[in-house]
Amino acid sequence: MKIAIIGTGYVGLPTGVGLAELGNEVVCVDKSEDKINALNSGKLTIYEDGLAELFAKNVQNGRIKFTTQMKDAVPQADVVMIAVGTPPHPFTKEADMQYIHAAAYELAEYLSGYTVVATKSTVPVGTGDDVEAIIAKTNPTADFDVISLPEFLREGFAIHDFFNPDRIVIGTNSDKARNVMKKLYQPFENKTKFLFVKRRSSETIKYASNAFLAMKIHYINEMANFCEKSGADIREVAQGMGLDSRIGNKFLNPGPGYGGSCFPKDTNAMAQMAKKYGVHLNLIETTIAKNDQRKAEMAERILSHLSDRKNGRVAVLGLAFKGGTDDCRESPAMDIVRDMLKVNRNICVYDPKALENARKLLIENVDYASNPYEACKDAEVIAVLTEWEDFKNLDFVKLKREVLNPCIVDLRNIINQKQAEENGFEYYCIGQIAQN
Ligand code: UGA
Repeated sequence: MKIAIIGTGYVGLPTGVGLAELGNEVVCVDKSEDKINALNSGKLTIYEDGLAELFAKNVQNGRIKFTTQMKDAVPQADVVMIAVGTPPHPFTKEADMQYIHAAAYELAEYLSGYTVVATKSTVPVGTGDDVEAIIAKTNPTADFDVISLPEFLREGFAIHDFFNPDRIVIGTNSDKARNVMKKLYQPFENKTKFLFVKRRSSETIKYASNAFLAMKIHYINEMANFCEKSGADIREVAQGMGLDSRIGNKFLNPGPGYGGSCFPKDTNAMAQMAKKYGVHLNLIETTIAKNDQRKAEMAERILSHLSDRKNGRVAVLGLAFKGGTDDCRESPAMDIVRDMLKVNRNICVYDPKALENARKLLIENVDYASNPYEACKDAEVIAVLTEWEDFKNLDFVKLKREVLNPCIVDLRNIINQKQAEENGFEYYCIGQIAQN
């Protein structure tokens, strides 16, 4: 089938490459000339595990193309997917719909023949109605259906998730659109569940899922706080809880708080959206407030291990909002560094993939290292803030030679505690009373 994808970010690009790999002819559109020039010259604009190989293959066989012009993508498309950003409004925290609306106005002009217009971006309930109205007004003769097609890809695992979806949710009342989507996703027929629901239900499923996952993380973080006082061990508690299939063993890793471009944005948008309907989502509102508070508490926890809070050297390992991605947007690690900088200007940071993005967002008041050992030079405390595989295999003998004081604050519970302690490190993690 012929697919146009509007927006080449963390959702649009992996989706486009995945659909091309399934045999479709895909044209990706983006307003940014820089991005399109890079993609056209074979350079990826984001890091995603497994994306580079599939990207190169499908560029080469011509199944995926890139343009800044809707007119080169939309007229021939059977399906147009809108995958532009819906960033939080800086003041109201509602999802900012300007890019969705602009895309709808522009694509409307070029629709030709029956086309399914699918919103892949996470959008407030009722957006499908708005997009439909915009298209109908702009191009009264257009033959189209607007459907909701929420995306459940995780950053860092987007390619894996694209080919192994837990479910495919399609929000539409139109049989014609349903048949087009069945054909597009036919390769997944025996692999996953298809859920055809009302458009507004589909839009809600995305927010309700992300907010639930955010609450699950908040919950395990609260349990970790409890364990730190009560003498229980959160790792054992999470394991025991996770064996109940009603709870499930995923998303029970305590940490410095959730981050990224989705959970903070979507929990806020959900809470604001509900208020408009006169509904107070207390659990979600508490989750948002406590998750923000947690990052400040974690900064304090790290600084408390310095002999001199103001001048002691802090090594930060990990800046991405989670392992496997170069994305630092709304990263707890970045907030924690910013919080620490309010008192301490002696911080050295390292991340295996995210340093370039971090530089764009972080202050110049930190030192950047090109490996973990360099970051730890003269450190009084090493703070592990992102769950990178690389940090699980640190050479403690080498590390000990670099530091001023052997102390690790592991906010992701990934360091081998036994090895660290055997090599003379004080070790503090989340959800456990410190042994030292
Ligand atoms: C999330 C959802 O998991 C995807 O299903 C969804 O498609 C995506 O948002 C989106 O809306 O586009 P993502 O933001 O890539 O995906 O990241 P997650 O893997 O969900 O992690 C989010 C945050 O929670 C990270 O900061 C991570 O470190 C944290 N987390 C996750 C924990 O602290 N503990 C856990 O057990 C799991």
